[in-house]
Amino acid sequence: MKPIRPLLVFGTRPDAIKMIPLVFACREHPLLSPIVCASGQHREMLSGVLEHFGVQPDYNLDIMQPGQSLTDITTRVLQGMAPILEKERPDVALVHGDTSTALAAGLAAFYARCPLGHVEAGLRTGNLYSPFPEEMNRTLLGNLCSLHFAPTGRNRENLLRQNAPGEIFVTGNTAIDVLRYTVKEDHRFSQGALREIDFSRRVILLTAHRRENLGQGLPAIFAAVRRILNDCPDVEFVFPVHPNPAVARQAEAAFADTPRVHRVAPVDVFDMHNLIGRCHMVMTDSGGLQEEAPSLGRPVLVLRKETERMEAIEAGTALLAGTDEQSVYESAMRLLHDPAAYGRMAHAQNPFGDGHAAERIAGIIAQRFGEENKA
Ligand code: UD1
Ligand code: UDP
Repeated sequence: MKPIRPLLVFGTRPDAIKMIPLVFACREHPLLSPIVCASGQHREMLSGVLEHFGVQPDYNLDIMQPGQSLTDITTRVLQGMAPILEKERPDVALVHGDTSTALAAGLAAFYARCPLGHVEAGLRTGNLYSPFPEEMNRTLLGNLCSLHFAPTGRNRENLLRQNAPGEIFVTGNTAIDVLRYTVKEDHRFSQGALREIDFSRRVILLTAHRRENLGQGLPAIFAAVRRILNDCPDVEFVFPVHPNPAVARQAEAAFADTPRVHRVAPVDVFDMHNLIGRCHMVMTDSGGLQEEAPSLGRPVLVLRKETERMEAIEAGTALLAGTDEQSVYESAMRLLHDPAAYGRMAHAQNPFGDGHAAERIAGIIAQRFGEENKA
């Protein structure tokens, strides 16, 4: 039987981190011969992840431009994918999550009449503008795909409610698989700035980058951070600043004179996963961190108005803190002053899977397309 050739496409830091276990699982599967295509929607943040995991893509569209618009990303990926799909004629294209790379590559596969599988399918907030444009991207992918790999039962229900065509498989989230590769008890930070931080103090990990938070959200969140520092002399923050110039500018304006906020360059993923475990808790608008931190026993305050990861809220591993100054400040202060509440969150069970999602997805692809190739 000829090998089954899935084409895996990703382009940002988070989808690279979560697709790499699937690249490995496909490579290890005797029936699969994967092709890897990076869009290059991110540049340094993507190349860092690829290097750290030793993954060399077969293609890199290298589309990133500083300050790129959503239209830039979408059109460049769509145009770049067409000749690759034409040349490779893969059995199935696989995209991840809700980035513009995923949507544009999915649309390109649809135009090429190539079956499409969606990894991390079915996440929804129900608000098409939050997160923006991710909620629309993943909703559209729900209609473009014939195979949906949903991390949780709730994600499956969202797809059923949308009447998404094709088959749905509940697999767990590959975000949990990655931790097997990255987390080490004796990890030594490769970024020097992290080695200088005193983790015997209560250090809070802060990240914020979402487009919908770039206006009023970030200044309000940063004002809350300053109040927390003012009220809690034993607390410090470590803040890996996203390379988006809009984020970097606002972070500089808010914290230039605040030495207890350690603003550091984006942290490589091995450092990041070990950093989570050394911090007291996480305050973030990131999607991926909401999934990872619970596996590492750290509570998460979600800096958003709504989350597509309600499983974490219901399991008690995360709290929705909102994006206005008072609600962020109060949520953090409650957790900093109530050890019992902190303990309950830190010990709650991660609802996102058992760390074997990628093997399941590879197995499903082998079975599904193996039968077609035999016929
Ligand atoms: C994108 C994803 C978002 C994800 C985020 C992860 C979409 C629509 N959004 O966000 O879901 O949470 O990535 O970080 O796809 N930049 C660099 N170097 C890099 C990466 C980015 O300089 O390696 C700068 C560039 O100026 C770029 C800007 O950051 O223009 C924003 O990057 P972009 O991919 O457009 O980010 P978002 O759309 O905000
Ligand atoms: N991450 C990282 N270094 C950082 C910030 C985040 O390695 O400085 C990792 C994080 O652990 C998670 C992923 O990047 O695996 C999340 O990316 P991001 O927050 O940019 O995007 P989102 O998940 O919100 O789409």
